[in-house]
Formats: sequence, C-alpha cells, structure tokens
Amino acid sequence: MSQSGRKNSSAELTVGQMAARAGIAVSALHYYEAEGLIRSTRTPAGHRRYDRRELHRVAVIRIAQSLGLSLAEIRAMLDQVPQGRAVGRADWQAASEVWRAALEDRIARLVRLRDQLDHCIGCGCLSLESCPLGNAGDRLASEGSV
Ligand code: FES
Repeated sequence: MSQSGRKNSSAELTVGQMAARAGIAVSALHYYEAEGLIRSTRTPAGHRRYDRRELHRVAVIRIAQSLGLSLAEIRAMLDQVPQGRAVGRADWQAASEVWRAALEDRIARLVRLRDQLDHCIGCGCLSLESCPLGNAGDRLASEGSV
C-alpha cells in the first residue's frame, strides 16, 4: 500500500519512479503535464500517478525535442495518439506522419545552408537580402518586400 492507503498498481508509477525511468527531472514531467503532453491521475492524497504507458509518450517527446521540433509540433503529433488504451506501432506510425513535413522542411533548409556555408565563410556579409545564413528562415518573405 502507498502512503495514501491506495494500493499502488504495478501499471502505475509515482512521479519519482516515472522521472527515474524516463531519465528526466520531475520538473520536466510537471511541465509536460501542464502542457497537456502527458497526463496523470491523483491519489486521494493528491499524489500523481502515471500509467506506465506514459513512459512511451515521454520518450517520444524527448526524441522530438532532440530533432528540434516545437512544442506545438509535438502536441500535434501526440494529439493523434490515443490515451487510456494500449497503443500499437501502427498508432505511432500514423501519428508520426504529422512530423514528416516539418522534418523534411528542416532537412531541405539545412541542406541549403550546408551548400552555402563555404561561400558565406569567405564572404561574411550576412546580408538580410541575399545571405541564407543571415536570414535563414526568411520568416517575413510571405509578407512581401518592404
Ligand atoms: S555571408 Fe555573405 S552571402 Fe552569406
């Protein structure tokens, strides 16, 4: 029995167990939960309990972060993954399609930057108009020229 008197199911993890198993800080779990990326239940005493399957979601979040995906992109993918039931490979593969376009866009931009790097190192102008390093994202291009 746990301190709360509630039997701790083997399918549930405390926040400390979850953090240890996932290899991350407790505060990171709290953050993911506050952002709606993972969820927990509460014991009568108010202690968090995580379904063991939430570990897979945390692993996916960490992979996405290592790929440089934004919180919104991570959420968009995880929103496709059912919660509260067993999730299979097909579920994860279907959900990961959400990331494909974002990753392919990043890869294309990195390839362009790599191909320009030798020139830019010799140039050094970092022009906002013509240098791919000076304005890598060209974030305002859709608004037209000034
Ligand atoms: S630094 Fe001049 S074009 Fe990139």
